[in-house]
Amino acid sequence: MTADDTDLLSVRNLEVVYDDVVAVLHGLSLTVPSGAIVALLGANGAGKTTLLRAVSGLLRPHRGVITKGVVHFDGVDVTRADPAEMVRRGIAQVMEGRRVFAEVTVEENLRAGAYTRRSRSEVRESYDRVLGLFPALARYRRSVAGYLSGGEQQMLAIGRALMADPTILLLDEPSLGLAPQMVAQVREVIVEINRQGTSVLLVEQNAAMALSIATFGYVMETGKIALDGPAADLLADADIREFYLGATTRRSLADVKTYRRKKRWSA
Ligand SMILES: Nc1ncnc2c1ncn2[C@@H]1O[C@H](COP(=O)(O)OP(=O)(O)O)[C@@H](O)[C@H]1O
Ligand SMILES: [Mg+2]
Repeated sequence: MTADDTDLLSVRNLEVVYDDVVAVLHGLSLTVPSGAIVALLGANGAGKTTLLRAVSGLLRPHRGVITKGVVHFDGVDVTRADPAEMVRRGIAQVMEGRRVFAEVTVEENLRAGAYTRRSRSEVRESYDRVLGLFPALARYRRSVAGYLSGGEQQMLAIGRALMADPTILLLDEPSLGLAPQMVAQVREVIVEINRQGTSVLLVEQNAAMALSIATFGYVMETGKIALDGPAADLLADADIREFYLGATTRRSLADVKTYRRKKRWSA
């Protein structure tokens, strides 16, 4: 396997084990080209969050380790690097569940995201960028974050990650639990962040939203990539539509495929 120069992030044959025994990723490979939005889809428990933790160096607090495979970022082997190094190198993760510091102000939340930055002018620049992206945060910058709505807290969590001025932003289900109008806003913000030059790895269960803005997509199933392709192809794929967009009770993409095959035969 040769690394492509245009690949910003490249994960090869990754295996991750929790608590020394629970293997969760089984030889997973994916790449994010420089400047792209790449979608990572998959049902609950597939291992999406684990993959993001492996990339951002956050496995250790969860008693997880990379037992095999490599993570390359910007031409450098960063496998098993610690979270602070990952942030310094340009990787920022917005964790699942829009975690913000509820007891402190919006402004203090944002400044906390800039802990790796050296100069005040850099911090100022990022701060202005974030407030430009999220006018609501500008309005509430002196309010305590815990009082913001769910959607605003998601914006704050994204804004905090941007304060590190990342080359790549890892987003873990940013639309989860948000009203449709808020989902649309999150979508627009991701597009704008990308337009400003930040690459994005977007983990979502909202396949329609993610694939509508991504160039390429991966579908994960039990720790592996089950399917990948240009986002437009995945969006048009009948199995994916049935699994993610239909009112299906089938629990895996493989189940959906079997079911559809049976349906075709019995029709
Ligand atoms: N800290 C942990 N210790 C042990 N098992 C874990 C831990 N975190 C996640 N898992 C397990 O790993 C699998 C994948 O989880 P996760 O990466 O959170 O999937 P997803 O984000 O796709 O829902 C699940 O079976 C989950 O129970
Ligand atoms: Mg998850």
